[in-house]
Amino acid sequence: MLKYYDDRIKPGASKRKSREVFFLRHAEKSKVTPRLLGDLGDCIIMDELEGDPLEERFNQQPGSNSEWLQQVGNGMGTGYARLANTQLSERHLIEYQSAFDDGRTLEFISEGFMERATEICESVPELKRYKERIDSVRKHLPHVLKEQRTLYKYDNNLGNVIVNENGFVGFIDFEECYVGTETIYLGAIFDCLHKIPWHTPDLHVYECPTWESIKQGYEKETGSIIDDRRFVEIVAMSLLNACRRIVDTFERNSDFSFWVPRHQARLDALGAALDRKAPL
Ligand SMILES: Nc1ncnc2c1ncn2[C@@H]1O[C@H](COP(=O)(O)OP(=O)(O)O)[C@@H](O)[C@H]1O
Ligand SMILES: [Mg+2]
Repeated sequence: MLKYYDDRIKPGASKRKSREVFFLRHAEKSKVTPRLLGDLGDCIIMDELEGDPLEERFNQQPGSNSEWLQQVGNGMGTGYARLANTQLSERHLIEYQSAFDDGRTLEFISEGFMERATEICESVPELKRYKERIDSVRKHLPHVLKEQRTLYKYDNNLGNVIVNENGFVGFIDFEECYVGTETIYLGAIFDCLHKIPWHTPDLHVYECPTWESIKQGYEKETGSIIDDRRFVEIVAMSLLNACRRIVDTFERNSDFSFWVPRHQARLDALGAALDRKAPL
């Protein structure tokens, strides 16, 4: 499989490619990502995972068999557990930070996203009421930041999960990977399980494996339980992920109005989960 990166398709091609290469090398031992076979200027060669993106399956065959979907969720949980627990050595951490983050630390970057997201929420009437939600993330961050550093993918959408009739096959598309921790990774996963349409203009709601099924696979692989205390931390880190989304979509789009209802829907869903009113 050859993947080609071009600024005309999406800006930042060179950085996107370098990040993807960095992640594929980092994750190789997990066996849930394609093996990198070659790195050639503006393209890479990697293994082709046999199957289809989960999102495509849903579009072709709506109303999936629930047993199969449960299997997919379990497999994804196992896969995420391997990725989130792939240690990033001190040397690779420094290499990543100097190549992609101007040497900035995770602490500095997280604070930056929260501050900027707060400013944006203050300036957009529909988002003003979410300011307190963002503030609540700060309570959980110090504990999360004590964890070891790893690389995580912030946009875990279902188009990048490859499945076949037996269930989960692997993950693809790591152009947007960042330095995080295990809980930050789990937060980014949880953030993507809300069946909230993102890029599409219509409000078509996708099917989605449940958090419970992913959690089961995750716990089995790591041998540790995600209890209620951990769950709250994970949802708080989903809100940190939401801050990054707010900042990214605000900076990249001159018309932010398309994104506002999407952010509202996500922030409401995450807020409800955080209040334990609607565990997903
Ligand atoms: N290693 C791979 N194995 C199988 N299919 C792949 C692989 N890499 C990419 N694809 C296919 O190509 C599509 C686009 O690749 P992706 O890496 O997700 O790029 P994009 O940034 O455009 O989303 C995927 O949705 C998938 O169908
Ligand atoms: Mg993709």
